[in-house]
Amino acid sequence: MNKLKITETCLRDGHQSLIATRLKTAEILPILETMDNAGYYSLEVWGGATFDACVRFLNEDPWERLREIRKRVKKTKLQMLLRGQNLLGYRHYSDDVVEKFVQKSIENGIDIIRIFDALNDLRNVKVAADATKKYGGHCQLAISYTISPVHTIEYYKNLAQEIVAMGADSIVIKDMAGILLPEEGYKLIKEIKSVINIPLELHTHATSGIASMLYLRAIDAGIDIIDTAISTFAGGTSQPATESIARALAGTERDPQLNMELLKETAEYFKPIREKYIKDGTLNPQALFTEPSILEYQLPGGMLSNLVSQLTAQKAAHRYEEVLREIPKVREDLGFPPLVTPLSQMVGTQAVFNVLSGERYKLVPKEIKDYVKGLYGKSPAPMSEEVKKKIIGDEEVFTGRPADLIPPEFSKLKEEIGDLAHSDEEVLTYGMFPQIAKTYLEGKYAPAKEEVKVQTINIVF
Ligand code: CO
Repeated sequence: MNKLKITETCLRDGHQSLIATRLKTAEILPILETMDNAGYYSLEVWGGATFDACVRFLNEDPWERLREIRKRVKKTKLQMLLRGQNLLGYRHYSDDVVEKFVQKSIENGIDIIRIFDALNDLRNVKVAADATKKYGGHCQLAISYTISPVHTIEYYKNLAQEIVAMGADSIVIKDMAGILLPEEGYKLIKEIKSVINIPLELHTHATSGIASMLYLRAIDAGIDIIDTAISTFAGGTSQPATESIARALAGTERDPQLNMELLKETAEYFKPIREKYIKDGTLNPQALFTEPSILEYQLPGGMLSNLVSQLTAQKAAHRYEEVLREIPKVREDLGFPPLVTPLSQMVGTQAVFNVLSGERYKLVPKEIKDYVKGLYGKSPAPMSEEVKKKIIGDEEVFTGRPADLIPPEFSKLKEEIGDLAHSDEEVLTYGMFPQIAKTYLEGKYAPAKEEVKVQTINIVF
């Protein structure tokens, strides 16, 4: 057996899970050389939320962050998470935009692109996967893990074989909710590994308290790579701590052989930064509490906290339990979609509407209508005919590849944003988040007079 490889997630999922993706580039850069020498297989540094938070909250260029990271990380692979045909946004993009985005991600420094589709509809990852290979990247395709009568080990095995046939370089089991139980994980990994000949990685979350147990069983089953976060940004809704896993395996045949001194240095470096985010309330202690109830409801932790805030805003916090019971029903009606972005938000909202309006599917958000019409792809199991009829009447369901309905749009985006974008990368930023990117680019290239004055004063003094 070869050594276990480690993907360090603190620069993407770790801070996304615990501090709403608020790490600034300036807080990341000084520690990168240390991390580069620690013996990691890869550093996960980029994804939808990191990109979004840069532009929306931090007034930073996400592409610039990537380039600066790449300059300092010379040995370790850099990894990103991509939502298939949705890229880093919340809708399907045309194929030319998908290809351009992948090309630019690789050109700016990404080595491994982890591509997933919420429905495991491989038609939605095909273009991004092909582009990754075309531009010399490592194409990792994800299996979005969920539990339902149709999501059997046989289902996942077939999916893994289809993924291999698509030419993927590796596969990840993406347990975004942290609900994969250790023994189930052991079986799943053994079975998948028996039919594939490419590396298998496992991604989970520590929310329910079982993640480390799962990892140990996954290691027994021969998992090649696991995702962990440096202790400062580990635990709770994030991943298990890198150092703990490394210590637990030290001296065994799967010892990941990380440099413990450098891991310690990394953890220490982030401590005052974490302290700052605890003090200003960005790190809510709730995110660090163990929540075994997610194993009962089989929902991602983030979805539970979103529900609480959605219901509180509607002065309906007392109906939380009812909504929790409604979610599995909605999910069944809709053909058991895995609860990952954007489906987790969509199913959650529909359940809230069903409970608060007093009549199921009386109110239906546009996204759910589009889903029922087939515009997100194929549902894992057939939908309830009755609910389908209630939502879209006799309208026909589209069974093709959703992006086939979208004409090329890169040049249209380029035209729309005009001189405000100074590169193709900035056109893509605009394509992902049109409104906020426009504000961001205006701030960058056409700052208001006062701001210029303030800057001048800063320079003088
Ligand atoms: Co995750």
